[in-house]
Amino acid sequence: MALVLLHLVFLSIFLHLITAQQTGGSVSVGSSLTATPNVNPWVLSSSGEFAFGFKQIEGTDYFLLSIWYDKIPDKTIIWYPEVGTMVPTGSKVELVRTTGLVLSDPQGTEVWRSGSISGVALGFMNDTGNFVIFGSNSRKIWDTFDFPANTLLPTQVMETGEGIKSTMSKTNFSGGRFQLRLLQDGNLVLNTRDILSGSPYDAYYISGTFDPSNSTNSGEQLIFDEMGYMYILRRSGERFDLTPNGSLPSGDYYHRAALDSDGVFTQYSYPKNSTRNSNWEVVWFVPDNICNSIGGNTDSGACGYNNVCSLDGNRPKCECPQGFSLLDPNNPSGDCKPDFTPTCDEVESNKGGDMFDFIELNNIDWPKSDYVHIDPSNETTCKSSCLEDCFCAVAIYRDSQCWKKRLPLSNGRQESGVVKAFVKYRIGDRPLQNPPVVPKQSKDQRSLILVGSILLGTSVFVIFVLIGVICVGFFVIYKKKPRNTYPNSKVVETNLPSFTYQELVEATNGFKDELGKGAFGVVYKGVIGKKIVAVKKLHMIFQDGEKEFKTEVETIARTHHKNLVQLIGYCDDGEKRLLVYEYMSNGTLAMFLFGDIRPPWKQRTYMAVGIAKGLSYLHEECSTQIIHCDIKPQNILLDDYHNAKISDFGLAKLLMMNQSQTNTGIRGTKGYVAPEWFRNSPVTVKVDVYSFGVLLLEIISCRKSLAFENDEEGMAVLTDLAWDCYHEGQLDAFVQNDLEALHDYKKLATFVMVGLWCVQENSSMRPTMRKVIQMLEGGIEVEEPPCPFSISVTSY
Ligand SMILES: *[C@@H]1O[C@H](CO)[C@@H](O)[C@H](O)[C@H]1NC(C)=O
Ligand SMILES: *[C@@H]1O[C@H](CO)[C@@H](O)[C@H](O)[C@H]1NC(C)=O
Ligand SMILES: *[C@@H]1O[C@H](CO)[C@@H](O)[C@H](O)[C@H]1NC(C)=O
Ligand SMILES: *[C@@H]1O[C@H](CO)[C@@H](O)[C@H](O)[C@H]1NC(C)=O
Ligand SMILES: *[C@@H]1O[C@H](CO)[C@@H](O)[C@H](O)[C@H]1NC(C)=O
Ligand SMILES: *[C@@H]1O[C@H](CO)[C@@H](O)[C@H](O)[C@H]1NC(C)=O
Repeated sequence: MALVLLHLVFLSIFLHLITAQQTGGSVSVGSSLTATPNVNPWVLSSSGEFAFGFKQIEGTDYFLLSIWYDKIPDKTIIWYPEVGTMVPTGSKVELVRTTGLVLSDPQGTEVWRSGSISGVALGFMNDTGNFVIFGSNSRKIWDTFDFPANTLLPTQVMETGEGIKSTMSKTNFSGGRFQLRLLQDGNLVLNTRDILSGSPYDAYYISGTFDPSNSTNSGEQLIFDEMGYMYILRRSGERFDLTPNGSLPSGDYYHRAALDSDGVFTQYSYPKNSTRNSNWEVVWFVPDNICNSIGGNTDSGACGYNNVCSLDGNRPKCECPQGFSLLDPNNPSGDCKPDFTPTCDEVESNKGGDMFDFIELNNIDWPKSDYVHIDPSNETTCKSSCLEDCFCAVAIYRDSQCWKKRLPLSNGRQESGVVKAFVKYRIGDRPLQNPPVVPKQSKDQRSLILVGSILLGTSVFVIFVLIGVICVGFFVIYKKKPRNTYPNSKVVETNLPSFTYQELVEATNGFKDELGKGAFGVVYKGVIGKKIVAVKKLHMIFQDGEKEFKTEVETIARTHHKNLVQLIGYCDDGEKRLLVYEYMSNGTLAMFLFGDIRPPWKQRTYMAVGIAKGLSYLHEECSTQIIHCDIKPQNILLDDYHNAKISDFGLAKLLMMNQSQTNTGIRGTKGYVAPEWFRNSPVTVKVDVYSFGVLLLEIISCRKSLAFENDEEGMAVLTDLAWDCYHEGQLDAFVQNDLEALHDYKKLATFVMVGLWCVQENSSMRPTMRKVIQMLEGGIEVEEPPCPFSISVTSY
């Protein structure tokens, strides 16, 4: 009997739940929904247009408790809890009698609740898009319209003191940098805000609905009416229209207004009888030009610091200027960091002209962050004034006036008038061209011309970059289909252009001009398009390594770093394998270091840091880890500006595949190879750290790692010498009285110690390249290195 009763109770609860979910729109107390992939909505409005439940956020494993348009293919979200927290699979939302909606994670920890409400009777998904909680007296006690996220809907009203916030991004719903509020004084304003504290910065849109002399003219409510019109209702009952009269499409449309993550407040419409290619159409938006509207001194502007804003329709588009790159590659509207080291020290301030040069940008201005204004000025004096001033990072020249600015730059924007921005960079550190400058798909040649006209300044560097861009663009456009005829060949999946052997014969004039020989092949100078290139003819014989060749070439092609020589094409024509690289006009580091004149200390130290960065990138930052295995000064090349770039990376693996002609399996070059090559220990990135250590000691001392010294019988091993000099406190002897280096004694000592850490015989004692960079740059203190060798000195 009791059993039957229990059964009936369960059945009725069960039926109750079923009906709760089906009779369009209501959720009973005690019911819940758990987040799982492809979970159905918790509740739909009776028209089926709005759904409430967990929505999985594209590209993530996380769910957002939200309300969305269920009949629109992209299921546009219109509400989520203000915190915007995304929750993992297994999280649960429940309607609780005493607390309303409660969201908890899989461990049962409460993430969010609708508020301190009680006596909940029912939840109801209304056809307006509003989820309403009713109390037992059938009165509304809570609704989502009163706690809007980033979107307003028809029939929704915003009172003074209320507001909405943008999201951080399209996939991160926590509060972003922008805010829309109806202030107590009656003005509707858009302002930026501090993300952490939430405190508002300057407004960038003000409705002007505040009348200090007659408060009845001030705004009282922001109304989004049933028809789709938005207006501010003044206390007097008059309307201040936001949606322009007659701008709404006639017919049955969805309407919404959202403060988007880029800071533009936009009203949209979408046809209800949508076709597959329907879109949200913009009805109206503020501000007109967000790039120019945000101009306070309090934050970075529409885009992040050092970033530059331009309008793309009504949307701001942020692009780091040349010489800068994104701090967070996933956030294009975030801050940009300079690709050079903008330090200021006494030695340098006296010879600005030797150390620095400018990148010239046209029609870009950062109207804030200046500390000196020179009026009148001319271009020449403006530039030299910045060059001689070590605080000056950028000089802006316009209308015969000059402004000197410090980093970081804010409110960057494109300007139409004649304005020139001179970005100062360290010569030893020339920044690469920016990725955004290279047209991505090149489907539209206008973009090339546009880039061209923006870049067409007077400096040789700009033209150099431009030619490079056009050549690369040209190849992407015209060389997409593989031309090789080798039967087994397949297209390499990167966009790397492939050349036929014949094309490279022509490019190199029949392999006439030999640039050098290396372990992997002979390098020839060539010309492709108008670009000078270096063509490396690999002299390995491949039998069945076809697939590996492509894999390796792809890996190499995917690396992009200013301290790596860029691969710009390849040839895979039967047995003939060639690689095409950018041409490095200043030869090898070996030629530079071991020539007749000792190169400047500063320049050498920048090179050392640059090489360390390139190597760290190979080890830790590219998608496939690359161990170079043959770091030595002959494999470091110098470009027009003496930037050091690592070459021949990624080839060691190719060589290993090729069984013939290698000696004992040891790869690398005498004097630079780590001791573990001679043992049976596994080879790791630490072999490169060892070779880098040797190279660093060479850069410091301008001595070769292995050299027959005059008048002395034996071979002088540089690492021994370095240890001895360091140990006995005689670094002056090590650097052969290089006064520049000795004047910079702290750096000298640091560099030597780092070098000695890198050449530790025990590979686990060697630092990672990342740590090496930190030590070289002075970010972390270097400890005293122990003697690198065990008792028996390794003999080669
Ligand atoms: C529900 O929507 C209807 C119109 O569809 C509206 O008249 C009603 O006031 C709404 N109820 C609540 C509680 O929002
Ligand atoms: C969203 O952005 C905030 C602030 O940058 C960050 O703390 C949070 O982890 C992000 N959330 C997700 C899911 O990425
Ligand atoms: C305030 O403005 C309203 C509407 O414009 C007007 O009717 C009223 O006379 C004004 N009051 C005063 C004190 O000026
Ligand atoms: C727009 O239309 C409303 C009524 O629909 C009217 O009250 C208002 O004055 C109109 N505004 C303008 C600028 O014509
Ligand atoms: C959608 O409805 C509008 C009027 O409401 C009509 O003009 C249009 O032809 C309809 N489109 C489709 C694809 O049915
Ligand atoms: C710029 O101004 C300086 C000094 O004011 C003057 O010597 C120089 O000739 C001017 N240069 C040009 C190109 O006008």
